[in-house]
Amino acid sequence: MDKSTIKGKKIFLRRIRLSDVNQNYLSWMNDPETTQFLECRFTKWTKKKLKNYLKEINKDRDCLFFAIVLNKSNKHIGNIKLGPINRHHLFGDIGILIGDKSSRGKGHGQEAIKLLVEFAFKKLRLHKVTAGIYANNIGSNKVFVKAGFKQAGVLAKHRRCNNNQLVDEIIMEKLNLEN
Ligand SMILES: CC(C)(COP(=O)(O)OP(=O)(O)OC[C@H]1O[C@@H](n2cnc3c(N)ncnc32)[C@H](O)[C@@H]1OP(=O)(O)O)[C@@H](O)C(=O)NCCC(=O)NCCS
Repeated sequence: MDKSTIKGKKIFLRRIRLSDVNQNYLSWMNDPETTQFLECRFTKWTKKKLKNYLKEINKDRDCLFFAIVLNKSNKHIGNIKLGPINRHHLFGDIGILIGDKSSRGKGHGQEAIKLLVEFAFKKLRLHKVTAGIYANNIGSNKVFVKAGFKQAGVLAKHRRCNNNQLVDEIIMEKLNLEN
């Protein structure tokens, strides 16, 4: 494990690698159910496009992109991103995807967010983390609340769903109370 690995009870987070791009990961990115609330759904992903995307993201100092991996089996089940990070105002945005459907509803999303928030606060000394959630994404709302986030505000009719319905975007935030 390299030094940027973040260890948890059931999962660990490690920096994403180009070698993580396989048919499995690609299938998450092109699955309409998985990506229905994510902006990546507007792209038709190929292995080449995904590798290029990861190359760019790994070059970006203001974005940390992690694979979520099960401790027991070493299985890559999803990804979590901290970024963009604003180093002047000391906040960062979190996005998460548990792509492996059999790994959902087992607390891994919640644990991944908590681990990343702790890293953001303790190691990066960020003051705040945020997340933007489609109002109709029930699972995402729950998981961020469980991880200690509070609703900061609502952007009315801010996102257009696949059925063309306009929905609010909920901005969630968690403050570093030690700062
Ligand atoms: C949303 C997502 C991250 C949740 O991850 P997860 O690992 O399944 O969530 P957890 O198991 O940690 O669940 C945390 C809580 O949320 C609840 N929850 C999770 N998904 C849910 C859903 N679809 N509907 C209702 N409740 C849900 C769980 O029951 C749990 O509550 P509990 O402890 O009271 O039982 C995951 O489903 C996912 O990646 N979805 C697709 C991509 C996405 O929408 N990402 C979020 C973008 S902001």
